[in-house]
Amino acid sequence: MTPGLTAAGAGMRIRGGIAAVLAAVDPVLWVVTAGHGGRRGGLVATFVSEASIVPEAPRVAVGLACQHHTRDLVEASGAFALHLLGEDLLDWVWRFGLASGREVEKLAGLETRTAATGAPILAGALGWLDCRVEARVDAGDRTIYLAAVEAGALEEGGDPLTVKRMLALAPPERSREMEGLLARDIEVDRKAIRAWRACRP
Ligand SMILES: Cc1cc2nc3c(=O)[nH]c(=O)nc-3n(C[C@H](O)[C@H](O)[C@H](O)COP(=O)(O)O)c2cc1C
Repeated sequence: MTPGLTAAGAGMRIRGGIAAVLAAVDPVLWVVTAGHGGRRGGLVATFVSEASIVPEAPRVAVGLACQHHTRDLVEASGAFALHLLGEDLLDWVWRFGLASGREVEKLAGLETRTAATGAPILAGALGWLDCRVEARVDAGDRTIYLAAVEAGALEEGGDPLTVKRMLALAPPERSREMEGLLARDIEVDRKAIRAWRACRP
């Protein structure tokens, strides 16, 4: 330990270092949609990653927090669709990322079609992927889904919206709303990770 630095100070320095590394990355924003038994929903996610290099076996890994409505729909249907947003769809971040599908019908008024897996595809997205769940890992705060990508198309030109660009474009009231929801989700996730770790052998 650095001379003169307390254990608490050392812990803060380590956490600061970790946060700085993670903040150096600018994740792409996705909208994940799913549907089951006449219910449909969607959320904004950054926990989305390509998970295969095999051209004939494309896969993605997606992490969805257990408290979210969309995660319930993915559990029930075994499928979801991923959408890339252009800057013109900034409003979708507020529509899908700030409310719960338990309280509002998030797809109301949007043009959609149903993909082969049953997941709703949103018209106007930069691109979309239709995904069928092949495996799931319970990580405590979220479920991590490994899914086969069965179809997809890049519909529009332009750059996908990223977190840094979204934050630069967000009106102050939306930034405040996101900060409040993030703080709430951190509390829920913290408890879930602790409980999950406590149950591990
Ligand atoms: C920038 C941003 C990134 C997010 N990333 C994720 C994510 O990767 N996984 C997740 O489960 N929720 C993520 N969320 C939170 C959900 O989008 C949000 O809580 C949503 O309202 C949940 O909706 P639902 O309950 O209708 O499913 C993110 C939210 C924002 C604003």
